[in-house]
Amino acid sequence: STTRRFHFNVEWKKVTRLCHTKQLLTVNGQYPGPAVVVNEGDTVEIKVTNRIAHNTTIHWHGLRQYRSGWADGPAYITQCPIRSKQSYTYRFKVEDQRGTLLWHAHHSWQRASVYGAFIIYPRQPYPFSGSHIQSEIPIILGEWWNDDVDKVEKQMLKTGAGAKVSDAYTLNGLPGPLYPCSTKDTFTANVDAGKTYILRIINAALNNELFFAISNHTLTVVEVDAVYTKPVHTKAIMIAPGQTTTLLLRTNHLSDGEFLIAATPYVTSVFPFNNSTTVGFLRYNKSKPVNHLNRRRLITTLSTRSVLPDMLDTKFATRFSDSIKSLGSAEYPCKVPTAIDKRVITTISLNLQNCPENKTCSGYDGKRFFASMNNVSFIRPPISILESYYKKQSRGVFTLNFPEKPPSRFDFTGVDPVSENMNTEFGTKLFEVDFGARLEIVFQGTSFLNIENHPLHVHGHNFFVVGRGFGNFDEEKDQEKYNLVDPPERNTIAVPTGGWAAIRINADNPGVWFIHCHLEQHTSWGLAMGFIVKDGPLPSQTLLRPPRDLPKC
Ligand code: C2O
Repeated sequence: STTRRFHFNVEWKKVTRLCHTKQLLTVNGQYPGPAVVVNEGDTVEIKVTNRIAHNTTIHWHGLRQYRSGWADGPAYITQCPIRSKQSYTYRFKVEDQRGTLLWHAHHSWQRASVYGAFIIYPRQPYPFSGSHIQSEIPIILGEWWNDDVDKVEKQMLKTGAGAKVSDAYTLNGLPGPLYPCSTKDTFTANVDAGKTYILRIINAALNNELFFAISNHTLTVVEVDAVYTKPVHTKAIMIAPGQTTTLLLRTNHLSDGEFLIAATPYVTSVFPFNNSTTVGFLRYNKSKPVNHLNRRRLITTLSTRSVLPDMLDTKFATRFSDSIKSLGSAEYPCKVPTAIDKRVITTISLNLQNCPENKTCSGYDGKRFFASMNNVSFIRPPISILESYYKKQSRGVFTLNFPEKPPSRFDFTGVDPVSENMNTEFGTKLFEVDFGARLEIVFQGTSFLNIENHPLHVHGHNFFVVGRGFGNFDEEKDQEKYNLVDPPERNTIAVPTGGWAAIRINADNPGVWFIHCHLEQHTSWGLAMGFIVKDGPLPSQTLLRPPRDLPKC
């Protein structure tokens, strides 16, 4: 097989957006960072050199990392961070995945600007039919912060309050003309009429799920999280942070003109979000030269609201998510486990914590916010969990007692959610499964601060979303309704606000794997845990030895 090599320098670069110039953390001075483009079956070697004064790591989000857990990237989970002036080479094989993924920094809030596309070309021709593809348009959705995000995170943890929101949403790093001073910084995709284009959509935003649409055009979903789906035709998509998708765009019926490309947050309560919308343009090549006045007019006549679902449109979000199904063809069968060996039910919640003595907290009611799973707020250990597990030195690093059922005092739809979501425990708790175990995890939302979906991301494995619903998960009744035929296979699931999602995993990848909310603010508050997959009986089912250049803590 081919080995593809890349060199990433993590470095500062002066960047201006919204008339605000700042030092932005980048890879190779690029924002968004460089795309990693490989073929299915390739071995990838990415040398990451840290050219800043802080620690860093890079995560290859959604890449399976089969037996190569050392290359996964989350700081203190599978590696110690790469220190200033040091390098680490991430080495892994890309197998049995094809489509659009992303990479991003996995240390504090660095992924605010350190992210890029990870594109895998398939061995076999695309399964979606017919028309020949003209070209590809990658669109990475992100957030621009005028402030230093490191300070935003520190401030948030210090006061116990929620972080402020970003200053703009972006398309490929460009906020677009609805924001101050951004007309120049507008993303434009040029297309010919009568063709089919591949759109690669990546949500790299820190803290928001987004709706995305193009005016007067139907989008066809053909792949999510690098797994083919049955084609879904839709006016808009909902995409959670960490999710990626490939869409087909047909430019059939039109010969010239400009159309809005737009994205806006999806939330279930307007507080504390503003109604920011990022806008770009799809421009037919025969159109008249770009005219900013015309573009303004286009935005006002075609209000972005008529292009995108309303930001509170849970019905749309639910319908869209439920419409996604695995392709499940003879060539790409859906390998959902139809029976399970273990079920873990865990709450995913925000909590209030008493303020430490001599401190003032401004979360709510003089208390500070935290987040937890089964009432355990995840604490990042001082050294890498994978390394301490591998060396059988877990003491002081992690324990294997993550509760597999919620503490009984939670009633997820309770009328007094505040008192039900009080002081959490803090800890670094994981659970362990045998190699090959068929695992089910049910994520159960709770009712306190119930304003947005939690996008839960699992490292090292894809999973099958066998069920989703509102209210309390009912262990008996709800499993009867599971989809065990063609559930979507993904790595990040938007658990409905005020509801639950059940996922199934073939736990066939030995190592230590992080599970967390992909809203960065919630990860900082501890909405995370992990699981360990033990080695299998065969030598080919064990975790490989750590690479020599693995960073030390
Ligand atoms: Cu995309 Cu643990 O992250």
